Amino acid sequence: MIPNSVIEDIRYRCDIEDVISSYITLKRAGSNLKGLCPFHSEKTPSFTVYKDTQSFYCFGCGAGGDIISFIMRQENLDYVSAVEFLARRAGISLPDFSAADTVHAGPSRSRILEMNVETAKFFRRMLFDDKIGAPARAYLIGERALSSSVVKHFGLGYAPAGSHYLRDHLLSLGFTYEELTAGYICGKNDRGYYDYFRGRVMFPIIDVSGNIVAFGGRVLDSSKPKYLNTSDTPAFKKSKNLFALNYAKKSEENSLIICEGYMDVIAMHAAGFTNAVATLGTAITAEHARIIKRYVSKVILAYDSDDAGRKASDRAVRLLEEAGVDSRILVMKGAKDPDEFIKKYGREAFRRLLDESRSKFDYTIETVVGKYNIDNADEKIKAANELCLEIASVYSRVERDIYISKAAEALSLDKNSVRLDVEAAIKRSSRAEKKKQTGELIRVTSGISDRVNPDFAKRPRAARIEEALLGILLIHPEFEVLACADKPLCDEDFFTDFAHRIFSFISEKNKTGAFSVSAMSEAFTNDEVSRAVRMQTARRGLSNDEDTYKTYVESLREENRKSKSDSLEDILSAKRSQI
Ligand code: CTP
Ligand code: MN
Repeated sequence: MIPNSVIEDIRYRCDIEDVISSYITLKRAGSNLKGLCPFHSEKTPSFTVYKDTQSFYCFGCGAGGDIISFIMRQENLDYVSAVEFLARRAGISLPDFSAADTVHAGPSRSRILEMNVETAKFFRRMLFDDKIGAPARAYLIGERALSSSVVKHFGLGYAPAGSHYLRDHLLSLGFTYEELTAGYICGKNDRGYYDYFRGRVMFPIIDVSGNIVAFGGRVLDSSKPKYLNTSDTPAFKKSKNLFALNYAKKSEENSLIICEGYMDVIAMHAAGFTNAVATLGTAITAEHARIIKRYVSKVILAYDSDDAGRKASDRAVRLLEEAGVDSRILVMKGAKDPDEFIKKYGREAFRRLLDESRSKFDYTIETVVGKYNIDNADEKIKAANELCLEIASVYSRVERDIYISKAAEALSLDKNSVRLDVEAAIKRSSRAEKKKQTGELIRVTSGISDRVNPDFAKRPRAARIEEALLGILLIHPEFEVLACADKPLCDEDFFTDFAHRIFSFISEKNKTGAFSVSAMSEAFTNDEVSRAVRMQTARRGLSNDEDTYKTYVESLREENRKSKSDSLEDILSAKRSQI
């Protein structure tokens, strides 16, 4: 348990505007601040920061909370690590509460990070061991022609072929079986615990803060699977990490090169292209795109030159564009990936390729024109429609104009008729978008598809009163003790389990005066905290005084009485019909 004084200190010393401004640009909007939400992709700001309550809420995706839950989401940390992160930022020294805290919650992120450091050291020692590491060195330095300084720069290593060397080494250092499995170092079968990585060259994956968060391992021959990667652990989420971003972020370039594989990144860095990164054996995600946007607004996609690579490029272009990152696609001929290309043709040829990399739209035109036979009128119309849809999805008017000209030229059509079609497509899609958004909002506010509060839909009226009531209580936790028609709000008054949990939490914390939205992150998920902040935010501009509070308590009780009598009637009428 983190002492309340620490939380208070952090809330006092870390201003929410300062902290959030170091991630996104905030602009003043009335007495609040607004910016583009870091948790979903959007073009118009719906992410709002309230200085008076030191909270945030996004009207687009519903994410909300205080400074601690912001850091939990943004830095992908658990509650304790987020508190540590903010304390470090504010220069507050912390008592050591983490060790005692982690006994029940499973291995902590920091233990797994420590274990990963030991693991990387072990792999490196094995690689440079005269006898054990010989086949791995023959592979990396011989077959793949890496210099030993590149091998050291990337911290490469070797997992020997046996099934328990690493396990025994880590146990001897005091790590537990539970930690070994939680950190994806060991698996377990009927014969016991065994090392996941065996007989592979190892690539440590390092996050932007310099933590070793995961590993990838490659076999030395053609056996399968070629690569094995750490699955998600308390210290690692695949969809949020990019291999070599720790180095690439220091590059002078204002762009990133994104490719598929570890070996591609290493080959590019070795050839001087130190702005290369790789997604880790998965397709690029929207989360990757938002992380990339934090560092650059331009990327060059250097995926493999096969069908899968082209598909991956298309997807990446779309996701990056949604995040506001402009992408160009590298077209490689004569080699399947950057690693092979550089080996075959050298770094200068690769540099030329980078310079020539085409903009995403030239690439789209080429794909669409290649797909249809544009000498045939019907097919030409299809091609034109497809291109118009693509152009319509571009947000910048100037950019659209350029594309309209290019498309008209490629299909030998009149520029103005292309423009009219594009405008029609924009109107259609914005209507569809509005409809979708309203639908979404109705579903959430009416409690259909409500994952956070699944009881909501059973009795929406009662649930809505509960939310209003809690909204006030979150602003004035001290109201909890107010007598409403002779007794204070209590457990039995609640209908939904979720609202009841929040109420119990408030009254528990009130006993020591320690309630704050920040404290909630300890016991509730990010989505649950967001929902609580939504309740609180919904009370802005309304009256939140004692009388209002009491009125809501009474309406809730009234609502519950009604539903009790309803059900009594149901029972009676059921009896009646039986008679
Ligand atoms: N990958 C993976 N699991 C696999 C195959 C691939 O995680 N079974 C990931 C790895 O990150 C790999 C990348 O996808 O680096 C690209 O895979 P691929 O093109 O098959 O391999 P190369 O990078 O070309 O590997 P190499 O040059 O070492 O043969
Ligand atoms: Mn390769």
